[in-house]
Amino acid sequence: MNDQTSGASRPQVIVVGSINQDHFVYVREFPAPGATILAEGAALGLGGKGANQAIAAAALGARVALVGAVGSDSAGQAALTALAGEGVDVSRVRRIGDELTGAAYVTVAATGENTIVVSSGANAELTPDAAVTGVQTLVDTAPGRTVVLAQGELRADVVDAVGDEARRMGIAFVLNLAPVIAVAVETLSAASVLVLNEGEAALVAARLFGEEGAGQHAPIALVRRLQERLQTNVVLTLGADGAVACEANRLWSQPALVPARVVDTTGAGDAFTGALAAALADGLDLVVAVQAGVVAGSDAVEKAGTTTSYPRSVTPGELARRAPAHTVVELVSE
Ligand code: RIB
Repeated sequence: MNDQTSGASRPQVIVVGSINQDHFVYVREFPAPGATILAEGAALGLGGKGANQAIAAAALGARVALVGAVGSDSAGQAALTALAGEGVDVSRVRRIGDELTGAAYVTVAATGENTIVVSSGANAELTPDAAVTGVQTLVDTAPGRTVVLAQGELRADVVDAVGDEARRMGIAFVLNLAPVIAVAVETLSAASVLVLNEGEAALVAARLFGEEGAGQHAPIALVRRLQERLQTNVVLTLGADGAVACEANRLWSQPALVPARVVDTTGAGDAFTGALAAALADGLDLVVAVQAGVVAGSDAVEKAGTTTSYPRSVTPGELARRAPAHTVVELVSE
C-alpha cells in the first residue's frame, strides 16, 4: 500500500448508494413466465450495489464511508451492523421511520447467472440535500485523496446532485449507472469514470444517440463513441470477456482473470467497481484500476452470495498484478 494509506491522508472512498437485504433463491433454470418451480435453496444476505461496492473497497484497505438510507426495521439494523463490521463508516446512513429497508429478490441459476428485482424502500427516501451534506461533511472531516462513487439504485435527482457537488469540489467521481436511470447527461459527463455493463451501455447509447445507436456496436466501438460524446473516461465490463476502457488518448482491452469455478455472479460487478474506486483512491491509473476490477470480479463469482468471496487483505495494486496483460487497441495523439 502506498504512503497515502497511513494516518489522516489515507485515501477515502465515499459511496453514495443503496443498501438492501438480499433474498436469494437458487434454481436449476430460470422459471418461464407463468411457471411455478421449486428452489433448490434459499438464503438472506446484505446487499445493495452501494453496500457491496463499499465493502469491496474497504476490503482493499480504503477508508470507506457510505451515504444512504435504511428503514427502522431489523433488516436496517442488521445492515448497519454488518457494514460497520466490514470497517465501513455508516455515520451518514439515515434511518427512515415507517419505511422498510430496501430489498432485492435474487434468482440464481445453476450457470451462476442471476436476475434481480429491487424494491427500493428507504433507498428512495435519500434526498439530494442529505446526500450532498453527507459528502461535504465526510470530505471536510477527512482530508486526503477522495473518490466519490455512486450507482443507479438511488433517485436520479440524488445522483445528479452528487455529480454536481463532486464537480464543484473538484473530487473524482466514479459513476456506475447500474441500473440505468434518467440522470442528466451532464451527470454522465461529470463522472471521471463511467462504469457500465454492455446492457447498460446500450441503454445509455440509445438515450444519447437515439434508437439507431443502441446495441449495434461492438464493445470497442461503443466505448469509443461514449467517450467521445461524453468527453469522459468510460469502462465497459464484459463479464467473462473482461472489460474495454477508453480515455481521451487511449483505448484498451482488459481480459478477464478466469475464475476457478463460477458459482454465483451476483455482486461481481460491484466487486469490480469497488476495487476500481479503491485503486483510483490509492492514486493508481485507470489501466491498473481496471485490472484490480477484473481480478475482484473474478474472485467474486467463486462463492454463493455477494461480498462473501470479495478479495480481502491485499492492496488494489497487489490485486491488479494477478490480472492478465491488457492490450492497447488505439493510441490517439492529442
Ligand atoms: O449487484 C448486486 C446487488 O444488486 C445485490 O446485492 C442486490 O441487492 C442488488 O442491489
